Amino acid sequence: MRTYLVTGGAGFIGSNYIHYMFKKYGNEIRIINVDALTYAGNLENLKEVQDRENYIFVKADICDKEAIAKIFEEYDIDRVVHFAAESHVDRSIKNPEVFVQTNVLGTAVMLNCAKAAWELPDGSYLPCKKFLHVSTDEVYGSLPEDETAFFYETSPYDPHSPYSASKASSDLLVKAYMDTYKFPANITNCSNNYGPYQFPEKLIPLIINNALQGKKLPVYGDGKNVRDWLYVEDHAKAIDMVQEKGRLFETYNVGGHNEKQNIEIIHIILDTLQEMLPADDSRKKLVTYDLITYVEDRKGHDRRYAIAPDKIKSEIGWEPETMFKEGIRRTIQWFFENEDWMKNVTSGDYQKYYEEMYKTK
Ligand code: NAD
Ligand code: TYD
Repeated sequence: MRTYLVTGGAGFIGSNYIHYMFKKYGNEIRIINVDALTYAGNLENLKEVQDRENYIFVKADICDKEAIAKIFEEYDIDRVVHFAAESHVDRSIKNPEVFVQTNVLGTAVMLNCAKAAWELPDGSYLPCKKFLHVSTDEVYGSLPEDETAFFYETSPYDPHSPYSASKASSDLLVKAYMDTYKFPANITNCSNNYGPYQFPEKLIPLIINNALQGKKLPVYGDGKNVRDWLYVEDHAKAIDMVQEKGRLFETYNVGGHNEKQNIEIIHIILDTLQEMLPADDSRKKLVTYDLITYVEDRKGHDRRYAIAPDKIKSEIGWEPETMFKEGIRRTIQWFFENEDWMKNVTSGDYQKYYEEMYKTK
């Protein structure tokens, strides 16, 4: 049975990836989820899998060398999928240090421990050993508004925010391990994800949550910054396909072919909420364009991100499958069905879930 070590599996993309993998492989795989449970980590995301025999949760910080080395000693890990990171640009502008700590030093610890556990005496690695580093398109900086410009795997790194600078640094460390030690890894650089379990500090869940409560919808600057939105399950599939079919040592960009201005996204969410809320739902009258409130721009706000996912399509056969109209409906439906999740997250109650869940373990 193949064993995966997933870091940051209690976060947004990590938990969607774990669900995807169990749906796809069932009992053919084992997943060890290593997560420090920061404000962004929520074990409630994994309630449906927590009792599986082939799922193990380990609460550990990726910066803790001993704890990570112990996991490699205890379990014969075949694959690492490294999601754990501080992930929010606005937080990185307020407090950059923790981004350097987790994203750069934490990645160095993960690389070192995997190398120590996997490297054979002659410096080679068994073919089953693979490390996938999950990164972002933000490392490439900002594109002009010209719709013919895209990020490619060959685009130069030009990060602007402390978040993207820390992710770029971690990517370069992975590249250094591949070049120096022939360490068996891949990097994926992905565009903005959306979908179930996303923490409501990010644009889409924040807008859904605020609109349903009739709260203001903050739009940074002129609202015309462009992001390329990808449904999270499509991303999970891409990660699996890169590990299965990708060429080692390569970078693959993963994008949604779905560029939209922030203000367009907000309009689509408001229109879709109106369509989906039943006529007698009291929230229906709260959800109006009047909630849109232009606020001070983010410092150093990147204007446009857009990925041309040509390489992953031609080499691996991956393409984004979920159209935005469909993905946003599924996301909203998920939030309708999981109101308690949102309440627990916004009240901080999910931190109690861990104590409750694991008090006897
Ligand atoms: P998230 O903030 O929702 O989750 C991060 C997870 O990592 C949390 O469970 C948190 O508890 C855990 N974590 C944080 N610090 C840790 C530490 N020191 N040790 C162990 N665990 C720690 O993030 P996300 O949106 O799921 O993003 C996952 C990865 O994907 C990140 O590497 C991010 O840079 C990358 N990415 C995200 C997006 C996006 O749109 N969300 C786009 C491209 C790339
Ligand atoms: P975000 O979801 O934070 O992702 P990222 O900064 O990694 O792209 O933001 C997406 C876009 O939405 C970005 O251009 C900033 C903008 N934004 C707002 O206008 N208002 C908000 O309240 C938030 C959180 C983001």
